[in-house]
Amino acid sequence: MDRVELGGLVTANPVWVGSSELTMTLAGITACVDAGAGAVVAKSVNESAAARRQLDIADYAFVAADGSVRPPGAGMPGDGLLNRSGLAQVDLDDWLGVLADANAYGSARGCPVLGSITLGDPEAAARIGRAMASVVPAVELNIGAPHGREARAVRQLTEVDGVTDAVRVVRSAVDVPLFVKLPGQASDVVALARAARAAGADAVGLVGRYPGFLPDLDGGAVLGSWGAWSSPGCLPMSLYWVSKAFRQLDVPLIGTNGARTAKDVLRFLASGARAVEVVTALWIGGPAALRVMVDGVSGIGEDFVGSALAGTREYGDVPPPPSPAWLPYTARWTSSGR
Ligand SMILES: Cc1cc2nc3c(=O)[nH]c(=O)nc-3n(C[C@H](O)[C@H](O)[C@H](O)COP(=O)(O)O)c2cc1C
Repeated sequence: MDRVELGGLVTANPVWVGSSELTMTLAGITACVDAGAGAVVAKSVNESAAARRQLDIADYAFVAADGSVRPPGAGMPGDGLLNRSGLAQVDLDDWLGVLADANAYGSARGCPVLGSITLGDPEAAARIGRAMASVVPAVELNIGAPHGREARAVRQLTEVDGVTDAVRVVRSAVDVPLFVKLPGQASDVVALARAARAAGADAVGLVGRYPGFLPDLDGGAVLGSWGAWSSPGCLPMSLYWVSKAFRQLDVPLIGTNGARTAKDVLRFLASGARAVEVVTALWIGGPAALRVMVDGVSGIGEDFVGSALAGTREYGDVPPPPSPAWLPYTARWTSSGR
């Protein structure tokens, strides 16, 4: 799939670079543009000095399938990432200048650059969003930050009323497309997406990373704290909510959390996402990983979006097979060791 229209924004292709430290400088953003991104979401900011200070203690641990930990810079495909992070340490006026330059560079190449706000105070987010809207073609509001319980300067909203109130306040101030990134950690993420849409979101992002904790079995814990977690194993969890939202709602969806390969991007699209924000795969594989993903979705038609839902049924509608799937497992137990 090449050019994508989503919530009023046109992007070069559906593989977007999500917000992270990789998109915290003009050089970082232009490198993503040059590597072929469909769009780039700049690193989040908010009004809080505490959220900026949080970046001073950022730390990253790549976790292999056997639980062993690799240091920052040594991640391998298939690793999970446990990390602490903070928001961009920038003055807002300076940051608006960076966003304007980045978007001028990207848009000239068909790759818009989005501003991003991780929610602290909704009124402050509205002020920042209004200012961003004068320099970028779209704004992403992240209300799913997994660091919410550790870093009180950022908030994770998991209830419909909170989502409605926050999105309404920011929507009223932002006169460009507003995309809202939701947590995966809520009893009903579709209800949150419905609320975000009703409050004025032009698209919703599904889903944020998860809080995580990993003992090092040496008397402590990896990173020495709790953190945010994602891994290839998170992919089906993200796709659960993307596919449910696709079936139940009429809102453009941006997938995120768990796409490590071109096939994973296709899985997001087949589940109903029109675009996919990728981060961890690029920390591990660099610009080459992005190019492989973009090439892997080239030529895919619009009708591919949501195509996996065609043959997907509720449990009650699945006809029983002639021989139950559990039979070989119980047979193996009852016939072994005798
Ligand atoms: C180190 C790091 C920093 C991140 N910082 C932000 C951020 O500032 N704002 C935001 O909305 N998402 C942030 N994210 C979340 C990513 O944008 C993305 O949604 C998430 O990593 C899931 O995608 P992935 O599985 O491709 O990594 C960050 C992720 C990582 C790994």
